[in-house]
Amino acid sequence: MRIVTKSEDMQRLSIEYKRQGKTVGFVPTMGYLHEGHTSLINIAHKYADVVVVSIFVNPIQFGPSEDYDRYPRDIERDKEILEKMGVDVMFYPSVDDMYPKGFTTYVEVKGLSDKLCGRYRPGHFRGVTTVVAKLFNIVMPDVAVFGEKDAQQAIIIKRMVRDLNFPVKIIVGPTVREPDGLAMSSRNEYLTEEERKVAPAIYQSLLLAKGLVEQGERDTSKIIAAMQEFLSKYDRIKVEYIEIVDKEELNPIERLEKGEALIAIAAYLGKARLIDNISVKVGGDNG
Ligand code: PAF
Repeated sequence: MRIVTKSEDMQRLSIEYKRQGKTVGFVPTMGYLHEGHTSLINIAHKYADVVVVSIFVNPIQFGPSEDYDRYPRDIERDKEILEKMGVDVMFYPSVDDMYPKGFTTYVEVKGLSDKLCGRYRPGHFRGVTTVVAKLFNIVMPDVAVFGEKDAQQAIIIKRMVRDLNFPVKIIVGPTVREPDGLAMSSRNEYLTEEERKVAPAIYQSLLLAKGLVEQGERDTSKIIAAMQEFLSKYDRIKVEYIEIVDKEELNPIERLEKGEALIAIAAYLGKARLIDNISVKVGGDNG
């Protein structure tokens, strides 16, 4: 596996792959890899000849009081995982390489970036779309794979790709869960033993919601209330938001009509801010 730390070297390498007629698959990450990431890498392997994984904890997507400094990092372990997975290139740039002195250019997907998590993390998605746009320009992937756990992020990136004509196909891979249902996340690392025990309640609340939809409930305020009531049994879980939105514009839905909706939740468990979501279909599989 090649380890590339300079953007210009990465760009040169990608140009060389293209010259050789090879397709490039890309999985952008912030490292501290887990099975959620490795499942995305497996998808990238299926779609492309060469797989590039970036590891970059992107400072501009963290707010001033967020966890940039303590975000878990273990580059040696990440390197071993990527090596074992047959990844061709690990792109591991420094902050100075990505954001040279005087950096002032940002990419923002207006509207979508202010909804759901965006309301509580101002500037977060602007940081994500800026770094992903840069990474797309550096890695020049034919295919890039993102996780469904960050459903809003994936929707925003798809919009950016469409609006700015990036020549890349976006694939969204399913959320990988621990055996008890907790969505895999690098931030699960922050959970104490006690918090870890109750964390699966977040996914259980989403399953409860999906069950209600399957039983015919269409009033989203009732579904949200049932989730809140379920989660109120867990003192340690502090819900930030629960919303049921359409999957195009992420606007709240009052009554579920025919089509797909996203039920999204963000909650604090001690220091960890965890997010999760589930999709529900009405008029199709869910009746
Ligand atoms: O999902 C992530 O890990 C990050 O938001 C991403 C896409 C790597 C951008 O920093």
